[in-house]
Amino acid sequence: MHLPNMKDAKVRGQSKVNYIYEDRNYEDIFKGKKYYIRTYGCQMNVHDSEEIKALLEQIGFNETEEMEKADLILLNTCAIRENAHDKVFGFLGRCKHLKKAKKDLIIGLCGCMAQEESVVNEIKEKHPYIDIVFGTHNMNELPSILANLNHKQDIEVYSKEGDVFEFGNLYKRDSKISAWVNIMFGCDKFCTYCIVPYTRGKQRSRKSEDILREVRELKKLGYQEITLLGQNVNAYGKDLDGEIEFSKLLEKVSDIGIPRIRFVTSHPWDFTDEMIDIIAERDNIMPYIHLPLQSGSSRILKLMGRRYTKEEYLTLYHKIRDKVKGASITTDIIVAFPGETEEDFKDTLDVVDECKYDGAFTFIFSPRENTPAALMKDELSLEEKENRLHVLNEKINMYSKESNERMVGTIQKVLVTGVSEKDTNKVCGYTENMKLVNIDASKDTIGKIINVKIEEAKSFSLDGIMVK
Ligand code: 5AD
Ligand code: SF4
Repeated sequence: MHLPNMKDAKVRGQSKVNYIYEDRNYEDIFKGKKYYIRTYGCQMNVHDSEEIKALLEQIGFNETEEMEKADLILLNTCAIRENAHDKVFGFLGRCKHLKKAKKDLIIGLCGCMAQEESVVNEIKEKHPYIDIVFGTHNMNELPSILANLNHKQDIEVYSKEGDVFEFGNLYKRDSKISAWVNIMFGCDKFCTYCIVPYTRGKQRSRKSEDILREVRELKKLGYQEITLLGQNVNAYGKDLDGEIEFSKLLEKVSDIGIPRIRFVTSHPWDFTDEMIDIIAERDNIMPYIHLPLQSGSSRILKLMGRRYTKEEYLTLYHKIRDKVKGASITTDIIVAFPGETEEDFKDTLDVVDECKYDGAFTFIFSPRENTPAALMKDELSLEEKENRLHVLNEKINMYSKESNERMVGTIQKVLVTGVSEKDTNKVCGYTENMKLVNIDASKDTIGKIINVKIEEAKSFSLDGIMVK
């Protein structure tokens, strides 16, 4: 039996919560214990980990970056493609090894993979050393799951999503400069290849007043940038009666006055003219748009359930390019979807040639549990799939480099986020259109927006110097 989590959650955020269950204060159990969390996958998972960290710290845990020192190792997992599975179980092998020397080490798995029935069965049958498993719909039960652990594997996964519950913004945010803000959870689009509607549940938008309150708090805390998060952000509000739509939400968030506002991920089908206008109008809505294409073939797009044709996508693309000056547009593309012919693949390459994307994430189709596409006939050899991916990537990299080269000689506003990974004497940050720049400037620029003259373009980054 576990704590009724809703009661607890209600008071979180305003003040510290005393978790008490059967007369035991959770802090007495966990004070001084260390946790190590490893996060796989998208920004939603990164942000979920920020919430899990806060939950653990409320009950006395401290974070460690060294897994060998941890009393609790938690893997927040991703299920979008099959290779994520191999990575996670590879890492769990290392954890199992550690547990041999440290008997009371707790090993936990959460996130999207925990929502997959086959994964849960595999854990029950083959991985008894995994102590706890919890899903995406009951993260907030973690404290009570831990407090009630009694040497038996505890699997607590809800198959159905609950209502959106306001947690009072209890996060241990990784950055003091740039923050994630969830605006919605789940997805109703059911693209035929995608597991997200099954692992994250149906679309649930947060109320705009709650989002705006969170953004105001972030402004007070001095955040320079926020990113509105959701699997399908521009479908925001459609599941709530009388709620404002995404373009209006953008406008209201922009009014609060945080210097930089971003959002991911948009679906082309939900992209409205009002959205384009507000992005073009407002200086603090950044000119960076991630616009997943998935395939350039109208026939494959139909099989994918994407709700647009190649022509409709291109029309939208050009509308955005015309109106939002200096915008970067990036995309996601899947190659070798079941039944993709040479002709279909060529359509994808044609769209890439026309759009000349600033960057793209490219994937080979991966069949996922319970999705319609997993049952479709997939006849290409692995060699041919890899070959298509390679051809596509060559093009993507060429256009990405060209787009970086166009920036050379210009002066860009860059939000400095930290010390450069390439050269610790330099700092790094992002331009308004989301290009990574390594900069010759002092460390006290971190957290500030500075002017940078771009001097050199690399394939995936820029070099520049600070100017007045
Ligand atoms: N196989 C390959 N790529 C996928 N994506 C989603 N599901 C799959 C799958 N089954 C890609 C899509 C999506 C991105 C986040 O991951 O391109 O936009
Ligand atoms: Fe998956 Fe499609 Fe929803 Fe994106 S819009 S999360 S690809 S189902």
